[in-house]
Amino acid sequence: MRMYDIIKKKRDGNVLTEEEIELFLKGYINGEIPDYQAAALLMAIYFKGMTSKETADLTMHMANSGEMIDLTLIPGVKVDKHSTGGVGDKTTLIISPIVASVGVKVAKMSGRGLGHTGGTIDKLESIPGFRTNIEREKFFEIVKNVGVSVIGQSGNMDPADKKLYALRDVTATVDSIPLIASSIMSKKIAAGADCILLDVKTGSGAFMKTVPEAVNLAKTMVKIGEHVGKKTLAMVTNMDVPLGRAIGNSLEVVEACETLKGRGPKDLETLCLELSANMMYLAGIGTISECKLMAKKAIEDGSALEKLSDMVTAQGGDAGVLQDYSGFKQAKLKYELKTDKTGYIESINTENCGRVAMILGAGRETKESSIDFSAGILLNKKVGERIKCGEVLATLYSDDIEKCRLAENLLLNAVKVSANEPKHTQLIYARVSADGVEEY
Ligand code: URA
Repeated sequence: MRMYDIIKKKRDGNVLTEEEIELFLKGYINGEIPDYQAAALLMAIYFKGMTSKETADLTMHMANSGEMIDLTLIPGVKVDKHSTGGVGDKTTLIISPIVASVGVKVAKMSGRGLGHTGGTIDKLESIPGFRTNIEREKFFEIVKNVGVSVIGQSGNMDPADKKLYALRDVTATVDSIPLIASSIMSKKIAAGADCILLDVKTGSGAFMKTVPEAVNLAKTMVKIGEHVGKKTLAMVTNMDVPLGRAIGNSLEVVEACETLKGRGPKDLETLCLELSANMMYLAGIGTISECKLMAKKAIEDGSALEKLSDMVTAQGGDAGVLQDYSGFKQAKLKYELKTDKTGYIESINTENCGRVAMILGAGRETKESSIDFSAGILLNKKVGERIKCGEVLATLYSDDIEKCRLAENLLLNAVKVSANEPKHTQLIYARVSADGVEEY
């Protein structure tokens, strides 16, 4: 079978065999199949979809395309978590130490920012000295001794995803359920944890814009996880509004610390308690309500913050900044954005908030761009809150006044103010497990 025939078969809506999927992946990784043929197949998959069996085959061949991490030498149940990507999503920085503080091991490989969405590795690297590229043995040792370690994805893990993702990014084929599911699950399977919690985001700041699409993605990923013997759960959560008030790397680390000190924004705290409880539940240490109580206690008694501090120290970072935030690089400018409207914040276009943060320097315009860790946005007002003409809507953090001016209009246009108080926004829509979909 030639690549031409595989493309034609999918273009005509037929089901690919495992051998055809393997032939495509192997040929693409070793350079025999050119980008233009791979791109044509991706577009055919985008329009014609894949069956569960095709998606599972694609996932397993992607996972097996590189190093498979073996975590069995670390005693205990290891739990991983993955978000499909959002704006202001700093949950990993909060829930990983919460979960580790009750004795569940977290060995996590995270990514960098992608498009308008932020990445945990960039956020962690805003902590002075923090290393995310540590050797495998050291990573295992930290998970064993501290209980939690978060590092970057190793260079030789899932090379198929690295190559395919870069191609999808430039061929408008990112937001396809089988392609997202195989991309995420192949990395999670290669990363070796026993259990996986997925946070599937939906709304204006997410790849999945509607709840039914997000539920479908969640179901697809749960099915793949369970199929390969990993306990897998997915929460479908709101990304129609940015999570918390901070967007940008060090601003988000500070907000995560505040949340671990019991002073975080309510939406962020509520979601983190729910996600932590589900990670603990997957590890088998209690019912969801028992786990939620444990998570609350870990914040109240300071043990979760202590765990984060231990992880930061173990990975070479200055844990002092978790108490004294002035140790982070500080932006030269704090540019206050005032509104000329009075009313309630009805909505915030979350993808545009992510783009504003990028313009300010918090994300990369190209793969080679460097990041300004201090850049970003603090939303002084969130959806549902009242605002008066002349009040500060948001504060922009940057070293460059031109960037602030460029960002100003985009952010003002991303926020809709109305005379009436908007409906309460739902934070969690559904929980998807092997047993089915539980709506919230
Ligand atoms: N995150 C991933 O890792 N892959 C995707 O395809 C989308 C989000």
